[in-house]
Amino acid sequence: MPGIVVVGAQWGDEGKGKATDQLGDRVDYTVRYSGGNNAGHTLVVNGEKYALHLLPSGILNDSVPVIANGVVIDLDVLFEEIDGLNARGVDTSKLLVSANAHVIAPYHKVMDKVTERFLGNRRIGTTGRGIGPAYSDKINRLGIRVQDLFDDSILRQKVEAALEQKNHLLVKVYNRRAIDATEVAEELLAHTERLRPMVADTVRVLNTALDAGQVVLFEGAQAHHLDVDHGTYPYVTSSNPIAGGASTGAGVGPTRIDRVIGIMKAYTTRVGEGPFPTELLDADGEKLRQDGAEFGTTTGRNRRCGWFDALVVEAAVTANAFTDMFLTKLDILTGWEKIPVCVAYEVNGERTTTLPMTQTDFHHAVPVYEYLDGWTEDISGCREFSDLPKNTQAYVRRLEELVRCRISGIGVGPSREQAVMLHDLL
Ligand code: IMP
Repeated sequence: MPGIVVVGAQWGDEGKGKATDQLGDRVDYTVRYSGGNNAGHTLVVNGEKYALHLLPSGILNDSVPVIANGVVIDLDVLFEEIDGLNARGVDTSKLLVSANAHVIAPYHKVMDKVTERFLGNRRIGTTGRGIGPAYSDKINRLGIRVQDLFDDSILRQKVEAALEQKNHLLVKVYNRRAIDATEVAEELLAHTERLRPMVADTVRVLNTALDAGQVVLFEGAQAHHLDVDHGTYPYVTSSNPIAGGASTGAGVGPTRIDRVIGIMKAYTTRVGEGPFPTELLDADGEKLRQDGAEFGTTTGRNRRCGWFDALVVEAAVTANAFTDMFLTKLDILTGWEKIPVCVAYEVNGERTTTLPMTQTDFHHAVPVYEYLDGWTEDISGCREFSDLPKNTQAYVRRLEELVRCRISGIGVGPSREQAVMLHDLL
């Protein structure tokens, strides 16, 4: 079972690290294939809490961490994260970075912020990390790649080309100062020597590893419904976090992926703008936020909270062909007398059990709830499915039925060992 992808099935922050933790030492390579430092992975290892934004979680275990071609890299953040981990005694020397990955330049962050401000109430609610502008430049063929840092004159030319239009926009439309191309180039080039030993042909490295039967874990960032093609566009990120994104984002053919694990939280959260039919704007939503500590790892923003939406997850099951689901944060639901689960939407007076095809309908969707019996017992110490209270078991089984995919693991607390495994993930 060498190629495994882990993908969030909702709007991100499902606790993907929890599932990768269960694979533990059996993974040889851990690969980030999309996004950048807009992600936030909180991991608890040996009682110590780590927040990662750009580095793959494999940096904290014995696997080789890889930042593949599909990622956009803010080099300041990369080295800050590395320094932070080194200061805590974590060895980061095995990290590999693709020569084809794109770089987030300072002007991408400026563009992200001014564009959001300009959009006003049509803003996306981005993380402000320059992700969208970096991917736009990539698609526009104006991007800067990691390998460009190894050719001083090419880099300077590319930065100049990338800034030409942007400076017109900044000055004439956004009323901002122009950005100096030489300054930007110098800033990027300052990282070259430190970066050089990490840079590798990661496509070859990963395919060779797969040929040898080694275990390669492709670690999704963001989630299905933030995917630029499949999410709630335009309220999405600018990359393809879905399972198929691992193929383009890391250069491995689809036939090399054997297992696709979807991660779903026992309720739903979302950061930023965009439709969210089961969102709770009342005390119940606040209770979920407090109990689940639903505050962003990356921006510290309050996460919007709501009940589990089976239609949202089922759509992700369909497009990712998940082989397994991992249900996280089930312990957070302890104490509710009844737990509503969204099983259908009413859209313009009609009932649907699949996600509406158009964004307009999605915006008008009114959730139809089924009320499942809650439980009061503390489940954080449970390690077997049979240890869980009957109502908890029934909740899990009902979700499994609704999303049409087996649940192979359940998170019942923040630390690595607080999990109930129903099927091995490898
Ligand atoms: P961007 O990725 O910074 O362009 O932001 C686009 C949208 O994706 C915004 O709504 C963000 O809040 C959301 N987003 C980006 N990364 C994450 C993540 O890791 N978790 C949750 N939401 C995210």
